[in-house]
Amino acid sequence: MSQSTPEPMSELKTIPIAYLVQHVGRTVQILGHVLKLRTGKAFSFIECGYGPTQVQVVIRSEHVTGLTVSSYIRVTGKVKPIPEGKYSQLPVEIEGHKIDILSLSPDDYPSICPPGSGPETRLDRRHFYLRDPEFAIITLIRSQLIQAIRAHFEQTSCTEIQPPMFTGVECEGGATLFGLQHPGKSVSKPMTAYLTQSSQFALEMAVPGIGDCYCVAPSFRAEHSHTRRHLTEFLHAESEWGGILKFEDHLDKLRQLLRGTLSHFLRIAKESLTKLGCFDRVSALHAMTDDIMVLEHKQAIVECTKRGIFKDEETKTPFDERDDIPEAQERALIDSIGKIVFLVKFPKEFKSFYMGLDPEDQTRVLGCDVEVPGVGEIIGSGVREYDFERLHQRLLEAGLKPEDYSEYLDLRKYGFSMTSGMGLGVDRMLTWLLKKDSIRDVVTFPRFPGYLRP
Ligand code: 4AD
Repeated sequence: MSQSTPEPMSELKTIPIAYLVQHVGRTVQILGHVLKLRTGKAFSFIECGYGPTQVQVVIRSEHVTGLTVSSYIRVTGKVKPIPEGKYSQLPVEIEGHKIDILSLSPDDYPSICPPGSGPETRLDRRHFYLRDPEFAIITLIRSQLIQAIRAHFEQTSCTEIQPPMFTGVECEGGATLFGLQHPGKSVSKPMTAYLTQSSQFALEMAVPGIGDCYCVAPSFRAEHSHTRRHLTEFLHAESEWGGILKFEDHLDKLRQLLRGTLSHFLRIAKESLTKLGCFDRVSALHAMTDDIMVLEHKQAIVECTKRGIFKDEETKTPFDERDDIPEAQERALIDSIGKIVFLVKFPKEFKSFYMGLDPEDQTRVLGCDVEVPGVGEIIGSGVREYDFERLHQRLLEAGLKPEDYSEYLDLRKYGFSMTSGMGLGVDRMLTWLLKKDSIRDVVTFPRFPGYLRP
């Protein structure tokens, strides 16, 4: 084994591990990390990997002296089919001749972040945990879910736009706003800006010019809750659809979105979902989209009482008809129903000012939260208030200044496209799809109170 800096040039081609199958019988070079190392008397076995693909290298033990797990190496050797009866990720292995250590790792690596480590280690050593083979697949699946969401929107003629992350106004209530200083026209006059809570207003403004549109971008909420489904920064896939004249049109868009996204996802992520043992689960969830329950808020209150879910568990106080159902009870209800639920028509007092009123009961709004067993809400959505005067009034009722929202109000003044829209929490959706306990198990770099590293 050579431990000095290797000569950069070599007449042998470096082959990506995933393509080794095309080089059976040839001597090649590969680059990768030592994932596992088993040293025998005569021969040693190295699992060498780069990203999610790995190959076994069989080499005489005198070539691996000093080698440690996690080191980055260059292996020279012959590509051979794996012996009959042996299982491996690839149908080939490498009969190694030579190993160059390009970057030697200290030998304590395997104890720093061992496979199956607890939640604290997985967070505190995130930069190492990203190398965990299972977490690496989750990271890959996350990227494939985003591809699937985009594929659905592209297929349904929605155009992707890039909304700003700095905004001048709130969208989802002042309690979760991140404020910061933005440079003003002069150094002495900085402006107050916020990190966006939702790109909804930007999408609404884009619709008249560009038609149906969407974005996949981070949203920020200064949530002080340490729950297993809240982050301070999350990935938000949002869309806005024009020509929504009935509430049912909006619900149809949501049904299409769930079905379409999951169809694309099953196709794009088939291999990685299978590796993770989740393909059958996601197929079953896809089938669930044919049997979505639509539940009005007031019916949900009745269901809670029927199912022994109380506003106050200790005193067994039932919910009143216009109560907001808190997260824990809402999840208990959806778990007990065991289906995807469209929770609709909420009392207007606890929903945002922009939601359209229900023509059958003007004290309720045409909102729809998509709820799923195990996680709860993954999508917040609704028909937008289209009437200028009413929107103006609702802004005042919410304690906001209509002049701060003049561009938003203009949309209602100069020919409104009768839109509805939605925001899908990508991290929550993935938590549901992979049946994970916490949102932190599927986010590459989770941000929540007390966590800003790495
Ligand atoms: O229900 P929300 O607040 O809806 C909106 O932001 C709308 N303006 C979206 C729209 O109509 N364009 O948030 C939408 C979704 C939630 O259902 C949830 O999945 C996710 O965003 N979400 C969070 N995910 C992780 N951590 C948080 N703190 C989240 N807050 C919302």
